[in-house]
Amino acid sequence: MSRALATASSRTQPVLPVGLDAARLPAHVAVIMDGNGRWARRRGLPRVMGHREGVEALKRTLRLCSDWGIGALTAYAFSTENWNRPGEEVSFLMTLFERVLARELEGLEREQVRIRFLGDLEPLPPGLRELIANATARTAANSGIHFNVCTNYGGRAELVHAARRLAEQAARGELDPARIDEELFAAQLHTAGEPDPDLLIRTSGEQRISNFLLWQLAYAELHITDVLWPDFNEAALTTALLDYQNRQRRFGGVAPTPHQP
Ligand code: IPE
Ligand code: IPE
Ligand code: MG
Repeated sequence: MSRALATASSRTQPVLPVGLDAARLPAHVAVIMDGNGRWARRRGLPRVMGHREGVEALKRTLRLCSDWGIGALTAYAFSTENWNRPGEEVSFLMTLFERVLARELEGLEREQVRIRFLGDLEPLPPGLRELIANATARTAANSGIHFNVCTNYGGRAELVHAARRLAEQAARGELDPARIDEELFAAQLHTAGEPDPDLLIRTSGEQRISNFLLWQLAYAELHITDVLWPDFNEAALTTALLDYQNRQRRFGGVAPTPHQP
């Protein structure tokens, strides 16, 4: 039996691992869940078993972020380039998304999680699209963590889509191109309304972005770990958050000068 996707989001005083500062947690964590295939291969299992185990890691991560008071978790589940994988792996993933969503929706509702799916959802199988529409609607008014699942998501596709929407408005005479600024542009992205991620975690040691949140990651702190996604757990998340809390974010400015007595 799988546990519900999240617990105790109503808790007011989160119990954090030793060393973590509750006042300086990232408001928004993004994660590139990578290494499922390698996890399975190392055990002599078919790659898809890694995806199944990866779901457990995602549930753990969501529960921890929710319990610790992190406002938003955005996870990369399927990229626009992942269609290039063998047909059986793609259909396994689509079926897995359907099963997990159907199974976990009640728990998400109970735990006040607000789930959204970011990406071009049109090419997804109709059954999955229905489940997505239902889960999105049923959790839309929830007050807990924002859980964004990037499905058929590509950063470039998202930027092109935003540009096209603005161009259409301008062509209809509804928008003066001179009014287009960063705020107006960001409002056309799938992540509209969400603050930019403060921390990006990528598992399995790959040091690349792989077309994820190209606009939104402009000033995110990057944490790359060799841990394979299915092994990602409380200790690995704590390490990532401690790493984040040791960074000095400057946003292009200068470090504050130490106080001279
Ligand atoms: C990430 O794991 C999951 C998806 C991209 C769907 P991978 O399937 O990419 O695992 P590796 O990188 O081959 O080990
Ligand atoms: C990124 O992982 C996409 C997801 C985690 C969904 P990939 O395994 O597809 O990325 P590359 O191919 O190693 O860059
Ligand atoms: Mg990979």
